[in-house]
Amino acid sequence: MILRRVWRCTRRSFSSFPYNRYPLDAPNCNVPRNIAKRVGTNLHRQPQHPLGILQRRILEFWQPHGFQLYDQLSPIVSTTHNFDHLRIPSDHVSRSPSDTYYLNATTVLRTHTSAHQHELLKTGQNRFLVAGDVYRRDEIDRSHYPIFHQMEGVKIFAPHEQNLIQSELKESLEQLAEHLFGQHITKRWIDTYFPFTEPSFELEILFEGEWLEVLGCGVIHPEVLAKAGRGEQMGYAFGLGLERLAMVLFQIPDIRLFWTHDERFHRQFASGEIVRFEPYSKFPPCFKDISFWLESAFHVNDLNEIVRDVAGDLVERVWLIDDFVHPKTGKTSHCYRIAYRSMDRSLTNEEIDDLQEVVRNRVVNDLGVILR
Ligand code: PHE
Repeated sequence: MILRRVWRCTRRSFSSFPYNRYPLDAPNCNVPRNIAKRVGTNLHRQPQHPLGILQRRILEFWQPHGFQLYDQLSPIVSTTHNFDHLRIPSDHVSRSPSDTYYLNATTVLRTHTSAHQHELLKTGQNRFLVAGDVYRRDEIDRSHYPIFHQMEGVKIFAPHEQNLIQSELKESLEQLAEHLFGQHITKRWIDTYFPFTEPSFELEILFEGEWLEVLGCGVIHPEVLAKAGRGEQMGYAFGLGLERLAMVLFQIPDIRLFWTHDERFHRQFASGEIVRFEPYSKFPPCFKDISFWLESAFHVNDLNEIVRDVAGDLVERVWLIDDFVHPKTGKTSHCYRIAYRSMDRSLTNEEIDDLQEVVRNRVVNDLGVILR
């Protein structure tokens, strides 16, 4: 405990979460305190944070084309803005409380910056960017974290320019990739589906031998524009994942590092420039397994949430290592491996045993499963 205090905690920021308006113990709320307290941190607005540096680089690219930036819109949005206005069907998995943080039945922590398309289109904006924190309940590994950051872009065209939209969209985003990574980056387009664009594409870049999806985009669906009172017009939209891009650009190996308070991380970016991150250390991981018989309502994201809640940023990865159906009872058993590893110090066996014990108890109490 004492050791942990040694690292200077100059960057701690205060939560702006409106606890009075949205009590976390309300019936439909599935937002844990450790998520709520980070609302308002706004890493993307810190000029010497890799996400802030990247946001500025991206802005530099779009600003000369007349795009206006909105980077202080509240991440607390209605389900109407996050889903309905974007034609996301009422039974779509992304609406499920296993995937999305709900503050009440009709209010969520935005799952993407597309949640702001409707309101900005309604005000008559024709070229805008939205940057902000987005929230998703998800798996735990080096590139997934329940809070990450996106930058959205929208451009509306005059009626006589409509045949240009798709080609301009792809060309601009390829130029943006070159602006960020240089001429030599290898990239490819993949056809995909989003309910709010048609056609829709993803851009992937080749990084250390693997294709990495860095953005989604497409021609805005006519119904999205019509709902915002812009039915006569057409345009394009895109959404970039800032952590994904920053991990490649700055060579940051683990997404948890964006949240560290360790000065050995932050002082490397003091210049506000894109520089290669020099890992200061790599501490050993500690693995613990947990096995249990599933109850019908079990979702792995509920386990992930408990582990995050108990271990915070000490958890590096959680994954299924065994899936077994009992031949007689027909019951399913899962075994998950949890990798604990700190970004800034060595962990002791005792402290991890203590955490694992709390995880085991919470799994039984909160999820009603039976440990094996
Ligand atoms: N909102 C999409 C996502 O989060 C990305 C996107 C934005 C796709 C705009 C198309 C248009 O994955």
